[in-house]
Amino acid sequence: MTAVIVGLGPMGRGIARVLDKAGIPVRVVDLTPELGRAGLERIQAEASADGETVSITAADDVETALGGADLLIEAVVEDMAAKRELLARVAAAGGPNLLAASNTSSLSVSEMGRAYGSPERLLGLHFFNPPTKMRLVEVIVGAATDDASVKRALALVEQLGKTAVICKDSPNFIVNRVCRPLYYEAQLLVSQGVEAAVVDAAARGGLGHRMGPLQLLDFTGLHTHLASSETALREFGDPRYRPIPQVRGLVRGGMTGRAVGRGFYDYAKESPREANQRVLRVPGPASELSVQSEWLGLEGELTVFRCGAPTPDKVSTLKRLAAGGDVVLDSSDGGWLGALPHGVGWIHLHKRPDGALFAEVVDDPAANVEVPPIVDRLLDQLQAPSVRVLALPGLVVDRLAYCMTNEASTVVEEGTASARDVDVALRLAMNHPRGPFENLAAAGIDTVYAGLRSMTDAFGDPRYRPSQLLRRQALGLVRAR
Ligand SMILES: NC(=O)c1ccc[n+]([C@@H]2O[C@H](COP(=O)([O-])OP(=O)(O)OC[C@H]3O[C@@H](n4cnc5c(N)ncnc54)[C@H](O)[C@@H]3O)[C@@H](O)[C@H]2O)c1
Repeated sequence: MTAVIVGLGPMGRGIARVLDKAGIPVRVVDLTPELGRAGLERIQAEASADGETVSITAADDVETALGGADLLIEAVVEDMAAKRELLARVAAAGGPNLLAASNTSSLSVSEMGRAYGSPERLLGLHFFNPPTKMRLVEVIVGAATDDASVKRALALVEQLGKTAVICKDSPNFIVNRVCRPLYYEAQLLVSQGVEAAVVDAAARGGLGHRMGPLQLLDFTGLHTHLASSETALREFGDPRYRPIPQVRGLVRGGMTGRAVGRGFYDYAKESPREANQRVLRVPGPASELSVQSEWLGLEGELTVFRCGAPTPDKVSTLKRLAAGGDVVLDSSDGGWLGALPHGVGWIHLHKRPDGALFAEVVDDPAANVEVPPIVDRLLDQLQAPSVRVLALPGLVVDRLAYCMTNEASTVVEEGTASARDVDVALRLAMNHPRGPFENLAAAGIDTVYAGLRSMTDAFGDPRYRPSQLLRRQALGLVRAR
């Protein structure tokens, strides 16, 4: 097999190295012969910095490069007109068995197939940045891509030592689509008064994410995110994808993120890491408190009452328990605002896949939710780090997780990807310890469905509308996975 890589930006250079390393002869091309040679020199320098050598060659133009090639991967600028023009040239010069692939992150692969003229032999191979390190490749199947081409793509990804997931051509594919509500909810939480560092610390502590969503947005650039949100809204035609006004304000003010020193964080004042540390409460030495909790398998003097939405029964149980001793509510349901008996603390405890505990502590004096001293003693006893959050529906962690799971469920419902591939994609591309369906299984469909319905009621916003698949699963009408 011989492969041609067109476009020697960071992605094209990285993809060329990955193919070369797998023993595939690679020819690289850019806009001009000079840019092609310069690109090859950068590839050689980047490989050498990693202690590697490459045997890649540069061609003057795509027509020359294509002689006898079986595979072409384009990684030119993200512009449909440029890609269409290139693919028409490739179609004229390539052999009848040439498989053409695009590394696009947002453009329609089906539309590119039409420009190529043989849509059955065109698909997306969406590598992640940097391609030399990231294991995931989304294989994007266009409306007319044939099975033989998909098989060839899957075999290639395997030969590269990477993991493929299959995704039907659709806006944002899998990873960027499922993460869309993560970013939207994180921004909405800030609009609703939660500090950016609290949102990020909760995502890290409660979900085990390596980087919080707002720090990630600052890193990518808020202007890039805003533009992709506008595209998503247009493509899906569903108001749940509309951008968050606050981010538009930041972009208009030139505060587009890390690169300019100001976005959700003010980098002149404090780094996201420092801000995250400031808002995180590290537990003190464990006290002698004995805790009773069915969920944690503990028995003792303080009761941790874990439940979902408040019902008259639960409220009176809490009141009764509180009259006899210390009690702390463990829930993320916003319905407790106004229903929490006086003196009862409100937290939400999370057990991460690595077994570590993390707590959100509701601290919202404006809403009459105070933190009784027993809460800190409890968290010391459990050795659980914590952040303080407002009494908003879903608090922070469940709101982020449930909205991602709901989006993932929509992706499966519409046949864009399988649940297994969605989980694999999120774990490999985002380093999430659990995919959205693994989170769903851990939390329970009933809990997630009830949580989303409660958010829908409280916010009155279609963003939280549970997918029909989730609803049918919760009602026991279809199997869970
Ligand atoms: N950067 C990322 O994180 C990332 C991740 C995944 C996918 N992608 C996608 O990969 C593609 C490339 O991304 P990038 O960041 O490396 O791009 P880039 O814009 O940095 O580089 C594009 C390269 O293509 C060359 N080029 C432009 N038109 C050309 C043409 N007609 N023929 C030959 N060469 C041409 C340019 O000279 C440049 O070297 C885009 O489609 C992008 O959406 C990017």
